[in-house]
Amino acid sequence: MKVKLKARIRSKEGLGAGYFILDLVAPPIAAQAKPGQFVMITVSESLDPLLPRPFSILEVGQETVSILIKEVGRGTRILHELISGMSVGIIGPLGNSFPDVSRAALVAGGYGVAPFFFLSRRLREGQVMDFFYGGKSKQDVLFFDHFERLLGRAFCHVSTEDGSYGKRGLVTDLLQPALERPDHGYEAIFTCGPTPMMRAVHELAHASATPCYVSMENMMGCGYGVCLGCVVPTSEGMVRTCKDGPILRSDLIEWESL
Ligand SMILES: Cc1cc2nc3c(=O)[nH]c(=O)nc-3n(C[C@H](O)[C@H](O)[C@H](O)COP(=O)(O)OP(=O)(O)OC[C@H]3O[C@@H](n4cnc5c(N)ncnc54)[C@H](O)[C@@H]3O)c2cc1C
Ligand code: FES
Repeated sequence: MKVKLKARIRSKEGLGAGYFILDLVAPPIAAQAKPGQFVMITVSESLDPLLPRPFSILEVGQETVSILIKEVGRGTRILHELISGMSVGIIGPLGNSFPDVSRAALVAGGYGVAPFFFLSRRLREGQVMDFFYGGKSKQDVLFFDHFERLLGRAFCHVSTEDGSYGKRGLVTDLLQPALERPDHGYEAIFTCGPTPMMRAVHELAHASATPCYVSMENMMGCGYGVCLGCVVPTSEGMVRTCKDGPILRSDLIEWESL
């Protein structure tokens, strides 16, 4: 059940290049949250900006919910200026979570890594995840050491567009050969990142007949199904990303209409 509260910022950690982590004290949200879910944050006490902003849950502690934020516009700039001890309005946990599978390929782009960080901390025994991570540059590749430690080096693959870290190129250049291996054994592919990247992942998944789930990051108004500000066209009609997602089957989405 979703909870709305004022959360104190326990800590704020800058990661460089406009990325930072906020640890928010929100015990009832932390207690319920599942990987893939998100929260809506009210960035200002005034009415400007009016709408709260959605962020994936990066990690939970006993009392805290952590979110990774990339500063892109006015709302995230205001959040970047906040300091420990201040409070923000938060609603969550919202949306669905990833389906439970034993072997999956995780494909992340930039801050799209956030839901996979949470997922990787909740793996059960016997689950195997291959992690593919792409960024424009080295500074857009976050927590890669964490994934290598947790999942094993052999299962972690990284690329950057400028070649400053990992292999030069796109994350789909790493995924494609893996999917072409007849013994890859993936029950599913999970992906989160920029829409063009997720569409390319969907196309590779479709070509290899592997089920693919995308975590959509489109604009949202309310975050819980009321405003219809987040609808995406699918073969089953318009669906609300916030309530029916954010994780949706990629083969249902009408990508050319996005
Ligand atoms: C379910 C979900 C989970 C998300 N998780 C994260 C996360 O973990 N970390 C994170 O940093 N961001 C995440 N986002 C994106 C985040 O919500 C936006 O970056 C934020 O709302 C931008 O607010 P702003 O006021 O700074 O930007 P605005 O001033 O509103 O816009 C500035 C620029 O950012 C673009 N933008 C705005 N909203 C989005 C969006 N939702 N997705 C992509 N581009 C956008 C605009 O087109 C514009 O170019 C998530 C979005 C969704 C829907
Ligand atoms: S954001 Fe309001 S219905 Fe989805």
